[in-house]
Amino acid sequence: MKLFDVYPMLNMTVERARGERVFDDTGKSYLDLYGGHAVISIGHSHPHYVERLENQLHKIGFYSNAVHNQLQAALANHLGKLAAVDQYHLFLSNSGAEANENALKMASYHTGKATFIAFRKSFHGRTSAALGLTDNPRLQTPFSGSIPVEWHDLNHIASVEESLAKGDKAAVIIEGIQGVGGIHVPTDDFLRELSACCKKYNTPLILDEIQSGAGRTGHFFAFQSSGIEPDIITSAKGLGNGFPIGATLIHPKFEAKHGLLGTTFGGNHLACAAALAVLEVIEQEDLMTKAKAHGDYIMEKLRTLPHVEEVRGKGLMVGIQLDQAVAPLRKQLFEQHHMLTGNSSDPNVIRLLPPLNVQKESLDQFADVLNHLLQS
Ligand SMILES: Cc1ncc(COP(=O)(O)O)c(C=O)c1O
Repeated sequence: MKLFDVYPMLNMTVERARGERVFDDTGKSYLDLYGGHAVISIGHSHPHYVERLENQLHKIGFYSNAVHNQLQAALANHLGKLAAVDQYHLFLSNSGAEANENALKMASYHTGKATFIAFRKSFHGRTSAALGLTDNPRLQTPFSGSIPVEWHDLNHIASVEESLAKGDKAAVIIEGIQGVGGIHVPTDDFLRELSACCKKYNTPLILDEIQSGAGRTGHFFAFQSSGIEPDIITSAKGLGNGFPIGATLIHPKFEAKHGLLGTTFGGNHLACAAALAVLEVIEQEDLMTKAKAHGDYIMEKLRTLPHVEEVRGKGLMVGIQLDQAVAPLRKQLFEQHHMLTGNSSDPNVIRLLPPLNVQKESLDQFADVLNHLLQS
């Protein structure tokens, strides 16, 4: 059987990885400034992560949600404290799209309404409702249109308020920082206004922190710089450092009922062990502080390079907006300098999402190489 060919791929077969480095099958080493779409938070194969998963596997890897699982409770407890979101209730699934799908369902159950507000350039995943609220016509199916949605521009509150005032909205969903769309940051003021409007019109606010969360921006969740309290928060990617996990954090005002949400694999023992290891390393190695410091440092440096129009982001979620297409540059970075970077739906934006413990020297090396390529 052949593989279903849906992924445009780099010419590389990855064999192993450690920290910020990925090695191909010929032993060549690459600097990973992308973390496999923001997934690698604490670095590849972190020794504590490997040990915790290995130990867990010797005890039990999986049992269903029909029995108590102490690791879920431990994860809820640790996440609540480290991320300062102790007041929420945790529902675990397997991916970002699922975390969002469950958030959208909860909002719709709660309000009894079906129409959502989403933002232009958004990406929320590839399941039905998440896809319906993703601003990319190329990905839509004929049935995606069955999710009623009103689109708005990021950082413009007036039209959002007008739309909320109609009183027919199930929820507003917004990324902590838009990732796939090219690193667009909602301002703290906008988030505060949005939160106030949602409260005024009794509409749940869902913060999609799937790419921007897990400590990447210096806060555990990017929105936390604004001080708001969303109704639902979603997380995935960096939370498992490569082990699939999705998390929907639900405000206690939403009532849980047996059977309301469910999953076979979500919250299994291995996934919880992986996420606990991630939280432990983030805490022990103070990775949120490091992400913020190194992110501020590299963004300042990148702003001085030629052909750079704008550098956007927070912490180690960085978008470099150039005055030209980035594809040839990314090819050179990969082939000649062995550096992995990300693209976005904007062809002129390079996306950086390195592990939170990426070394300052490696970021310097990247800036030097990029400078050199942009001069030539
Ligand atoms: C902001 C955001 N939400 C949701 C998703 C979907 O996550 P997953 O691919 O784990 O389903 C992504 C993936 O890129 C994302 O960036």
